[in-house]
Amino acid sequence: MSNIILTGDRPTGRLHLGHYVGSLKRRVELQNSGEFDKIFIMIADAQALTDNFDNPAKIRDNIIEVALDYLSCGIDPAKSNIFIQSAVAELTELTFYYMNLVTVSRLERNPTVKAEIQMRNFEASIPAGFFTYPVSQTSDITAFKATTVPVGEDQLPMIEQAREIVRKFNATYGEVLVEPKALIPENSICSRLPGTDGKAKMSKSLGNCIYLSDSEAEVKTKVMSMYTDPTHIQISDPGKLEGNAVFTYLDAFAKDEDFAEFCPDYKNLDEMKEHYTRGGLGDVKCKKLLLNIINKELAPIRAKRKELEKDIPAIYEILKKGTEVARAEAANTLAEVRAAMKINYFEDEELISSQQLKFNKKNV
Ligand code: TRP
Repeated sequence: MSNIILTGDRPTGRLHLGHYVGSLKRRVELQNSGEFDKIFIMIADAQALTDNFDNPAKIRDNIIEVALDYLSCGIDPAKSNIFIQSAVAELTELTFYYMNLVTVSRLERNPTVKAEIQMRNFEASIPAGFFTYPVSQTSDITAFKATTVPVGEDQLPMIEQAREIVRKFNATYGEVLVEPKALIPENSICSRLPGTDGKAKMSKSLGNCIYLSDSEAEVKTKVMSMYTDPTHIQISDPGKLEGNAVFTYLDAFAKDEDFAEFCPDYKNLDEMKEHYTRGGLGDVKCKKLLLNIINKELAPIRAKRKELEKDIPAIYEILKKGTEVARAEAANTLAEVRAAMKINYFEDEELISSQQLKFNKKNV
């Protein structure tokens, strides 16, 4: 069996550091590992519309931003196929059939959907499209017979739901679909990078994101005002690490080499943490280290983006080509699905002749 990746993002904003450490960086590594036969990266505009149906312009404008972010991080269109979800109509048809394989109560139990419903104050009136997006996400994955889905931890319930639908489909209609596996970051901090304010997750609506496309000056302002330990007032005070966003980010980003390069007073993060908790280490020094580390990571991404931004039509062309390839692939799976479900009437010569026989018998 071949190794196939499918993954994607909702185009509701530019991608930020949370996306980067949670999934994007890994995708580039997987892409370059040579271990995968096919890689599909989807810009999930249709899914984004499930909770932004009244603002399609936002989704439209962010498709190009997300594409630029992908390409500037090293997603290579020669190796990874980037495509736009809504332009692959086959996905919608699959969703309609899969909808029969899942119950309302099962959807209600999906923890990610539950949390999102709360976050969006949808409790009183949940749009049906939003409620059922895990089913649509199953189509995204299965249409490409994906074996591996690199995502952040928050997406695990989606993959679990997809696996259940696959099993139900295969048991009901015959083995057509492939059960996917989620691939989450090894470093659990990377799965849930908090915002610069120390709150739950980076999210555009909370204004606590560092974007991959932020300028050096923007990153500086954001890092220097990051949430640390509010009780760490004097440098000599002992500092707390829990909930301290600067140290959480250092956990996610800092490597031992970074200390030699930017902060030679310490050999590694453990030494720095030890000094911070003991007292005598100020926030500014830690923030400056973090700023250097982040800028080192983002500088090449930023430079590549500047280049890519000079030829926007070329980016749309990449998306168009990628979408054509994705569509052909999804059409193959859909044909197999329809055949397994025995709803491929016109291709089924056996059906037509057996129906003829039935009527012949009736009319003798
Ligand atoms: N739900 C994902 C997110 O919010 C985006 C997405 C849509 C996706 N379809 C997918 C991710 C299929 C992986 C596989 O980030």
